[in-house]
Amino acid sequence: MKLLVISYSQTGQLNELIDNCIRGIDTVDIDRIEYKPVKDFPFPWTSDEFFETMPESVLEVKTELEEITYKHDKYDLIILGYQPWFLSPSVPTSSLLQEESFLARVKDTPVITIIGARNMWINSQKSVSKRIAAAGGKIVGNIPFIDTHNNYVSAFTILHWMLKGQKTRKWGFLPKPGVSDKDIEGAADYAPILKKAIQDNDFSNLQTAILKLGNISIGSGILFVETAGRRVFNIWAGLITRLGDKPAKRRMLVRLYKYYLVVALFFIAPIVVTVFRLLVLPFVYPMINKRKSYICSTKLT
Ligand SMILES: Cc1cc2nc3c(=O)[nH]c(=O)nc-3n(C[C@H](O)[C@H](O)[C@H](O)COP(=O)(O)O)c2cc1C
Repeated sequence: MKLLVISYSQTGQLNELIDNCIRGIDTVDIDRIEYKPVKDFPFPWTSDEFFETMPESVLEVKTELEEITYKHDKYDLIILGYQPWFLSPSVPTSSLLQEESFLARVKDTPVITIIGARNMWINSQKSVSKRIAAAGGKIVGNIPFIDTHNNYVSAFTILHWMLKGQKTRKWGFLPKPGVSDKDIEGAADYAPILKKAIQDNDFSNLQTAILKLGNISIGSGILFVETAGRRVFNIWAGLITRLGDKPAKRRMLVRLYKYYLVVALFFIAPIVVTVFRLLVLPFVYPMINKRKSYICSTKLT
């Protein structure tokens, strides 16, 4: 069995998650690749650089990647690790998914995705699934990891992590940002499940087994914010690329978007989510549940 494990990670968090998920899987031929853009993204970020990546993330604009040297032309299984940026696959991820050499290896190949996110990965997974299906591959398993703290707390703490470059507690008392140490270590719980599927070369029940562990859930509020957010991000991304034809103009528009985001996330979203929970959720609950079961079901493509 030839296994390709491929990822991009700025902080190393995603790579730790992947390493733990495949811990002890050593009887197969593993090609472990960490790819990088030619012009890599900064870490730590400045605030401007961070928000500046929104339009290209949302519009999935391809950036050039350093040449990837694969061990094989064809694999029996691909594990793709990725992270969402601005409710879309990160720019390195969407670029990989537009790279002919990678897509050729995806063709007719089962793919498992491992996601290291803050807490909003659904739209990005939709896009990743579409691109993999279009290349003739099939997603047979998805293991998302998130920061399980409150949405507003994690938005605040992740910015501290991204802008300071350290995964530490903001002000000494807020929770550590990102996926918790416990969940990173707990990623190893998926290893026996993956190992068995790989040994049997049978991925038909993999997602059911992944979900049976009971670690993956989706909050209705987060699902609602993410769905609404994605629509608004599309509008901003279009506006910034269309009107921001000069660097100074673009910078001004990105700053406007940044202020909008802070107000929307911390002031508008809590009100809208409360109203949604009290007045709308009871009526649309069956629809939301259907969407949730679609996301968590075994049907991943
Ligand atoms: C520019 C940027 C945008 C991000 N947007 C999202 C997002 O929309 N949803 C989410 O759950 N996490 C988001 N994150 C967090 C990342 O998905 C990821 O968890 C974090 O950057 C650590 O990943 P790493 O392994 O690449 O270091 C974002 C991170 C960055 C740098």
